[in-house]
Parts: sequence; C-alpha cells; structure tokens
Amino acid sequence: MQYLKMSDQDLAGKRVMIRLDLNVPITDGQVVSDARIRAALPTVQQAHDAGAAVILLSHLGRPTEGKPEPDYSLAPVAEHLSTLLGLEVPLFETWLDGIDISPGQVVLCENVRFNRGETTDSEELARRMAALCDVFVMDAFGTAHRAHASTHGVARFAAIACAGPLLSSELEALGQALADPTRPLVAIVGGAKVSTKLTVLEALAERVDRLIVGGGIANTFIAAAGYPVGRSLYEPDMLGVARDLAESTDVPLPQDVVVAEEISADAAATIRPVTEVRDQERIVDIGPATAALYSQALAAAGTIVWNGPMGVFEYDHFGAGTRRIAEAVANSPAFSIAGGGDTLAALEKYRLADRMSYVSTGGGAFLEFLKGGTLPAIAVLESRAA
Ligand code: 3PG
Repeated sequence: MQYLKMSDQDLAGKRVMIRLDLNVPITDGQVVSDARIRAALPTVQQAHDAGAAVILLSHLGRPTEGKPEPDYSLAPVAEHLSTLLGLEVPLFETWLDGIDISPGQVVLCENVRFNRGETTDSEELARRMAALCDVFVMDAFGTAHRAHASTHGVARFAAIACAGPLLSSELEALGQALADPTRPLVAIVGGAKVSTKLTVLEALAERVDRLIVGGGIANTFIAAAGYPVGRSLYEPDMLGVARDLAESTDVPLPQDVVVAEEISADAAATIRPVTEVRDQERIVDIGPATAALYSQALAAAGTIVWNGPMGVFEYDHFGAGTRRIAEAVANSPAFSIAGGGDTLAALEKYRLADRMSYVSTGGGAFLEFLKGGTLPAIAVLESRAA
C-alpha cells in the first residue's frame, strides 16, 4: 500500500484536519470506555507538537443525518480528551462555514454525522470540509470501511491527504497477522450492528474455518433455524443469508440463551434452552452451555479474530457470556486479534485487553480488512499518492 504519511509532512503553522474514530460508548453523559480516545492521543499530540492548528473530526453513533441530537453529541468526548491531553479542546458545534483556530490549538468539531450528506459521501460536503484545511489526515481505522464525506470524499479534495500513525500501524499489524494465519482460523462476531455485519460474514465465511456468533447476529441464526426469538434484536430480512451461511460454514448454534423481559438494571435474567424463548422475552446473552461449547472451539483455534460482544454486557447480569468468551480467548494459545468499540469496552471491563495478542480500534473495519475488501478510505489515500 502506497500512501502519504502524516509523519512525513511539514505541519508547522498549517491547518491540519484529522479524522479520528472517537465513537466510544457513552452512558449518562460519561465516556465508559476511552480506549479509542487514548489510541488517538499520540496522533493529536504529534500534530500539536509540530505547531499545527489541529482540527479533529469524528462521528459518534448513528444519528439521523441533518438532525443533531444531544445523545449523539461529542461534548463528553471533548471533555475527556481535554483531560487526557492536558489541553483545553473546545467543541465547535457549527464549523462547516469556517473554524477560528490558531497554530498550537486543538479543536473538536461536532459529530460529522449531524451533517446532511456525510454518509452518502456528498461531494459538496466533502469540498466544504477540504476547504477548511491545508492537510487532511485520515487516522480513523475503525471507520476506514465507510465511504463517507469525512473519511473518503474530503481526501479527494484536500490539498494534501495522508494517513495518520494509528491508521498506518493498524494496517501494518493486521496485514502481517492475517496474511497467512495459523489454522484453524476462528472468527467471533457478535454485537448489535446486525445487518452490516451479516453481509460481511458472507464473504468472511470463505476465509475462516469456524464462525462463532453472539448478540443480534446469533439471534438471526437462531430465527433462521426456526426457533422463536421473542422480542429479540435480529434481522428478519437476512434469514436467508443466515440459513445459507449455516449450511456452508461451521457455525455452532447457541444451545442456551439468557432472556429478560426488558433491558434494565433490575430485570430478571433467566437461562433457557434456545428452543424455548417466549414471546415477550429478549435474548440478552448466550447461556452457560453455549459459552462452554464456544470456549472449547477457542481453545483449539490457531488464530482468533473477535468483534462484538455476546450480549448486553454493560449490565452485569447479562454479561457472563461475553466475560467467558473474553476469558476463553485470553486463555487460548491462538494468536488473538480483538477489535471494535464494544469489544474494547468489554475487554477493559474484564481487564483482559493485555491478554489479547493484538487489540485493534477497528471492529467492522477489521472484519472488512480480513474479508479482503478494499477499504475506501485507504483506496482514496492511495489514489492521492499515485
Ligand atoms: C465502529 O464502531 O465500528 C466504527 O466507529 C464505525 O461505526 P459505524 O458502524 O456506525 O460506521
């Protein structure tokens, strides 16, 4: 891969716009896992120390475009970032028409997904972003699989477009680890982003020897097998895809699940065979028999890639499955790569991050990378370097 690197650019006195992935879990206005923010610090520090005026961009969650909602504001991230950097990082709510900033300052722009045209990679929006900077730095590995205005379009029109240090090192590390993985290669895919991940799984299935599923992904496989899922999160439109995958790939189906009537701190958690979920119930975790089955498969793996929790681990009574899988990955002799916002949060919660062979800030992005697809945000940097 050939692209320009931020470390080779003269940033002194320049307006440097850095696209980060600061999409971190936030509860009650507080950052619950700051792994992605900490991973971004060296890049921000480097640009600041080089004498740049540093403009930071990120998305947070999946708000409706054009409708800024307080729940998706980056305000808690700006505050957290200021503390970690030891430098005031103001949040600019409106920024597309111009940013008042001097060299030596760092500002964070409000959620890029509040702008209409962000996720459709609008050229007009991308040009407006590009006009705000002298150098555009793409450093959001976690969002490099999205062709959005702030990850892809802006790189087409900025005077200089280059890769930041985090993006470069993720690409190098994952490239090395996944070029010729020790077999069996086991992928664990869970979490709530069901439809986008199921599509990736189709392609991923060709590269992995076994697929372990959790969260909303598992629920879709359970429904595809003909079992009731009650009010669980799942993807009705993807049942055919799940059925085909279950036939063509080794995807062990959960044997038991944890269910609850609501997702809350005081809801009762009940373990049931996978065949017996009731209409009013939601699947909130894998059960202990399933965790044991999955753990065996992980102990026998040569390489493990993990993205997405097994259940709603934010609540302890729905977290045993995710915890047991995290422990099984940690204890496995396999080379293990874990990534994604929620996965990092789970590893932090169970204090197991340092027991993984490699921790990536990317979730969906590294699944795309593993699948062998071109990441649009990288492709555009390559085209700018050609
Ligand atoms: C992630 O958490 O995987 C990245 O931040 C990308 O988020 P997205 O799936 O909403 O694009």
